[in-house]
Amino acid sequence: MAEDFATPKHIAVIMDGNGRWAKSKGLPRTAGHKKGAEALQLFLTEAERRNIKYVTVFAFSSENWSRPEDEVSALMKLLKQNLKQNLSKAEKNNVKYHFIGDLSPLSKDIVKMIKELEEKTALKDGLCLNIALSYGGREEIVFAARKLAEKVKAGEINPEDISEEVFSQNLYTSGQPYPDLLIRTSGEERISNFLLWQLAYTELVFIDTLWPDFRAEDFDRALLEFQKRERRFGAIKG
Ligand code: FPP
Repeated sequence: MAEDFATPKHIAVIMDGNGRWAKSKGLPRTAGHKKGAEALQLFLTEAERRNIKYVTVFAFSSENWSRPEDEVSALMKLLKQNLKQNLSKAEKNNVKYHFIGDLSPLSKDIVKMIKELEEKTALKDGLCLNIALSYGGREEIVFAARKLAEKVKAGEINPEDISEEVFSQNLYTSGQPYPDLLIRTSGEERISNFLLWQLAYTELVFIDTLWPDFRAEDFDRALLEFQKRERRFGAIKG
């Protein structure tokens, strides 16, 4: 059967614009993040409805730790609430959760909930949701390089065994297809250290909507734009 290029298998999302959304309404930035978390739930429902198999969202970057303390703690509180809700819904939902990033700066109770959610949903065969937390793309590449160096040191592999495929198997997203489509909201047109390795051939779609306002129509618009693109992966048109 011909491969279905019309529907992306994997969508990556940079959920940008929560702060500006709040500012435009005279609300504190944290209100924007709260609305952003609601927009994420809507997005996931729409992704399931459209049979998207993988979604990777940028929830908190390694650089976000340097935001004002009250904003970081509000985001952590929101994260905890979300984890709690998702843990209680895990049984009846068919979402498989996977957290990517350097989890070491997160509090112990958050890490415990993350592990519990991953374990509880490990055998689910619906949407696979990667949540990037305390994540940086360069850091991920360094993490993979270090893992490989340790394997060489232990005599498990030889340096010449390290191919692109082997390298990719040592990233946080090991075993998953690369994103076909990246959506970034709020009009910013940057990758911002997100999935640097994985996005090499991804179609980038930038939309002006601020993340808390993202709705099904924006999803459709991004998919339509994706379908218009001609993906050649560096080859010429056949
Ligand atoms: C970018 O908007 C968004 C974030 C840094 C956080 C994204 C988080 C969510 C959507 C909530 C769900 C996540 C958790 C942790 C439960 P910005 O604050 O950079 O917006 P701005 O560019 O307008 O200031």
